[in-house]
Amino acid sequence: MGRCIVVTSGKGGVGKSTITATLGMAMAEAGAKVTLVDADVGLNNLDLVLGIENAVSYDLTDVERGRCRLTEALVNHPFTENLSLLSSRALGGANLSQKTFSAVIAALRRGSDYVLIDCPAGIDEGFHRAVSSADEAIIVTTPIPASVRDADKVSDLLSAYRLRRVEVVVNRVRGDLVLKGEALGVGDVMSALRLPVVGSVPEDDEVLLSATVGRITDRESRHYRSVCMIASHVMLGTDTIFDCTARYRGILGFFRKIAR
Ligand SMILES: Nc1ncnc2c1ncn2[C@@H]1O[C@H](COP(=O)(O)OP(=O)(O)OP(=O)(O)O)[C@@H](O)[C@H]1O
Ligand SMILES: [Mg+2]
Repeated sequence: MGRCIVVTSGKGGVGKSTITATLGMAMAEAGAKVTLVDADVGLNNLDLVLGIENAVSYDLTDVERGRCRLTEALVNHPFTENLSLLSSRALGGANLSQKTFSAVIAALRRGSDYVLIDCPAGIDEGFHRAVSSADEAIIVTTPIPASVRDADKVSDLLSAYRLRRVEVVVNRVRGDLVLKGEALGVGDVMSALRLPVVGSVPEDDEVLLSATVGRITDRESRHYRSVCMIASHVMLGTDTIFDCTARYRGILGFFRKIAR
């Protein structure tokens, strides 16, 4: 039975889908069998982020309505072995029952090492549905106060669920601003949330510029390397997190800082 991890945040747009997709790729490339589930029913975009939107024929609602078998709705990633996606594009699917969703997740866990659920933003029905089926959670936040406050609220809500682990990933960290004391660092977020921070992902123009993370060509990019460290934490329990400030230290770093 595979582990099921929900990637959630409270605040929208902080990078849940990007991190779910990249983490799934990194874990699959490390040899795990990973299934991604887009729980943002109707507002799904994990297929786009993975660059496989044209390969999606059926989705979660088709499974619920008996229009296809679960295996038919799973899309195998064309370039990453062991990575598949269950999408949720149907606009009318927001009423998807908790019972069906949990049954689907249980079935996926039987065939995967890891099931990663991309949670919708907010804390309503969709959040509850996604979190209820998971046994671990990763809260994604950006280092801005509004995002950290929402992460804190989500962390409170998560205590009502039976989760074995709740950990935090800080996304879009600007190392130059952290060094100048103008932005929150990982330590600040950790003390504000009183939860372990297991990943620090830099703000990286590559993420914005590449249409999809599904065709990662640069495995040396700061973004991919930072997410690989999170994959290693999840799979092996390592606790090294990416140092987003390293690039801005020393003489070269000085020039990078003033060039931004
Ligand atoms: N580390 C990063 N560096 C630069 N841009 C990023 C980074 N992470 C995410 N982004 C960008 O931020 C935007 C929002 O990301 P994403 O869609 O993953 O967020 P989300 O939390 O899933 O949003 P929603 O709550 O709407 O589902 C996207 O344009 C994405 O490319
Ligand atoms: Mg999203």
